[in-house]
Amino acid sequence: MFTLQSDTSLSKTELYHSLNLQLTGLLTGEEDLICNLSQFSAFLMQSLEQVNWAGVYFARGEELVLGPYVGNVACTRIPFGRGVCGTAASTGEIQRVANVNEFAGHIACDSASESEIVLPIIVDGKLIGVLDIDSPVIARFDEEDQAGIACLLNTLILATGFKWQL
Ligand code: SME
Repeated sequence: MFTLQSDTSLSKTELYHSLNLQLTGLLTGEEDLICNLSQFSAFLMQSLEQVNWAGVYFARGEELVLGPYVGNVACTRIPFGRGVCGTAASTGEIQRVANVNEFAGHIACDSASESEIVLPIIVDGKLIGVLDIDSPVIARFDEEDQAGIACLLNTLILATGFKWQL
């Protein structure tokens, strides 16, 4: 059984360093894409406070299609350029939104969500999809969260073979 080690006295930088070590241990020896994305989503939900949705959308042509996640039922397809996820996909840039209600075109999958961070998943220069994390708290994610989550995503990418085989 995986037991998350958490210490409330850690700074954010220390927290993400600790989480990165734990994530490396969790994923080591497993390359399966769906397996690792599922574990990764659960790990984020278990380890990050004030988060109500964490998971991925896959890039399929010019739209995003829902992949493994933990949270409420979500919209299944998002065109590139629409909402926070579609903007991350079309620009290839991280979208950190302090108040989703002020983001033009935001797609409300869970009315509890108030802030959101979306990171493009790029492997060998190719957009594979996006990582989306939602919070019920305004401005939940700051620059340190962004850097820490980017490190966690990098660990996921290094551990995982991005070959789609069912
Ligand atoms: N809010 C996102 C849609 C995905 S859900 O939050 C899971 C967006 O605007 O792209």
